Amino acid sequence: MPALYPSLIAANQLSLGPTLDALDAYADGYHLDIMDNHFVPNSTWGHGMINAIATHTKRQLWVHLMVDNPGIWVEQLQLPQESSVTFHIESTTDPLRIIHALQKKDCYASVALKPGTSLDTIIPLLPQLDQVLIMSVEPGFSGQHFIQNSMDRIATILQHKNAHNLALRIGIDGGVTSKNIVNLANAGIQDFAVGNALFKAKDIAEALQQLQILLNPSTSLGRAITEKP
Ligand code: DX5
Ligand code: ZN
Repeated sequence: MPALYPSLIAANQLSLGPTLDALDAYADGYHLDIMDNHFVPNSTWGHGMINAIATHTKRQLWVHLMVDNPGIWVEQLQLPQESSVTFHIESTTDPLRIIHALQKKDCYASVALKPGTSLDTIIPLLPQLDQVLIMSVEPGFSGQHFIQNSMDRIATILQHKNAHNLALRIGIDGGVTSKNIVNLANAGIQDFAVGNALFKAKDIAEALQQLQILLNPSTSLGRAITEKP
C-alpha cells in the first residue's frame, strides 16, 4: 500500500496541534524535517518538538534527519516504536552503525541521498535497509520543483529491489504534487512526503483526501485508514 506523509515543515508553524487534528484521519503518518543549519542552510526543530508531535498524534512519525553527525541524534531520539528515521548518506562515514542503532530501537532505518549523490553510495546498503529515500529536490526547503531525473534513479533502485527480492520501501521527498503522484506510484514509490502540495491548499484535509484517492482510487476514502492501537 502506498503511504502519504504530510511534511510538517510546510505547515503553519503556529498551529501544528490543530493541523495534526485536522489531518490525523487521512494521514498515514507525518514527515518531520530536522535541519541543523549545517548540513543544510536551514533549521527546524529539536527533540522537544519531535516529542511534542509524537505525543499529540496517533499516527506514525517519519523523521528526516538533515544534520551533521546523525549518529548522535539517533542515540538521543526517543520515538514511539515503528517510527521511521531517515539519515543522509552524505552525513556519515559509518551508515551501518546508524542503521543497526535504529533497528535496535525498533525504528525503521532509512537512508536518503541528495539529487547529485551517486546511487553507488547506497546500493550496498539496500539489503540492510527498511527504506531508501530518493530526494527529488535539494534538501533544505519546501516548495521546490521536482527534479525530473529522479525518475531514472527510482527505476534503478526498483531494479535492484526486484532483482534481489528486497523488502525495503522506496520513498520520495520533494516536489510531489497531484500531477506527478500517480506516475511516481506507478514507478515504484511507496512512501510519499508531501509539503506544499498539501499546505498551500485552502482545505488541507480535503487536499490530503484527494491525494489518497489518486493513490488508491478503488476505495472511497482513498485507502482504508485504521486507527493505530
Ligand atoms: C526538503 C524536505 C521536504 C520538503 C518537501 O528538504 O525534506 O520534506 O518539506 O516539501 P515539498 O513537498 O513542498 O517539496
Ligand atoms: Zn524531508
